[in-house]
Amino acid sequence: MILVTGATGNLGKATVEFLAKKIPANNIAVLVRDENKAADLKALGVNVRVGDYHDKNSLVKAFQGIDKVLLISSNDFNDRLGQQKRAVDAAKEAGVKHILYTSVSMQNIENSALKPLMEEHYNTEKYILESGLNYTFLRDNLYADIIPMFIGEHVLETGINFPAGNGRVPFSLRTEMAEAFANVLSTSGHENKTYEISNVESYSYQDVANALSAHSGKTVGYNDLSIPDFSKALAEAGVPEAMIGFSIGFATATKEGDFDVPNTHLEQLLGRKPSSLNEFIKEIYQ
Ligand SMILES: NC(=O)c1ccc[n+]([C@@H]2O[C@H](COP(=O)([O-])OP(=O)(O)OC[C@H]3O[C@@H](n4cnc5c(N)ncnc54)[C@H](OP(=O)(O)O)[C@@H]3O)[C@@H](O)[C@H]2O)c1
Repeated sequence: MILVTGATGNLGKATVEFLAKKIPANNIAVLVRDENKAADLKALGVNVRVGDYHDKNSLVKAFQGIDKVLLISSNDFNDRLGQQKRAVDAAKEAGVKHILYTSVSMQNIENSALKPLMEEHYNTEKYILESGLNYTFLRDNLYADIIPMFIGEHVLETGINFPAGNGRVPFSLRTEMAEAFANVLSTSGHENKTYEISNVESYSYQDVANALSAHSGKTVGYNDLSIPDFSKALAEAGVPEAMIGFSIGFATATKEGDFDVPNTHLEQLLGRKPSSLNEFIKEIYQ
């Protein structure tokens, strides 16, 4: 039996939906924190188990009878490493044989503006390696789906105002990552492997602006703002300080090329090329 955590979230739910097309639903289990959010998962016929990364006993119970766990990284930054370590410990205690973990695909993490946020992924990988469990690291580069979060809802009117310079990112659609994960979960031969889940080419925010222009028929410009101007504009728009810091971290890491590591693993796992910039802009902004 295969269990997917984070199944009430975007990536986990999409993975379960793809997986249910490949293997019988009664061979799939999901971990959720709140059963009330699991009605659509129950309708798929999968086993719904309740547990929380903050509560190891709940995880040991939820992982009983499970062979493979896809551990979706937590979105809760309160002791994220501790939460994920607890999930690894629980998997070991419950007799799980293989743990797959959604890590991050970056270079220069040591010098990255995002080191405080992202090093937890690499520390979780290290902990999994030390656990002795079979592992698969699914190192995700950035979702194309988060581009609107950085460039704003009204980008067609405002243009892109983001301090990412000419930095490039091999964005890919979260649903395509999920499809690839379902392929990995439902086939053999992925033990002790690391996959960089990235598009085959990288795109700058000028490329994103050009794609938006082509898609909308309106000219969308890219303004590589200075960090102080960006910060001031967000503060004037009422964006909370923590979110401003988060956006500056992503812009700086992008500018420095920290995410610019395109790879063909996603293409191989999908069995086709991931959607290109023009295709995913159309999908996101349809
Ligand atoms: N590569 C990227 O561009 C990118 C972007 C954003 C995030 N991420 C990372 O990738 C992960 C998956 O992305 P996503 O879009 O699916 O995120 P998401 O929609 O926010 O889903 C996160 C999932 O984690 C669950 N979760 C949070 N804290 C938990 C806890 N203490 N115990 C058990 N489950 C817990 C949530 O459960 P509830 O529904 O109960 O809250 C939810 O199901 C994120 O959690 C984050 O670590 C990557």
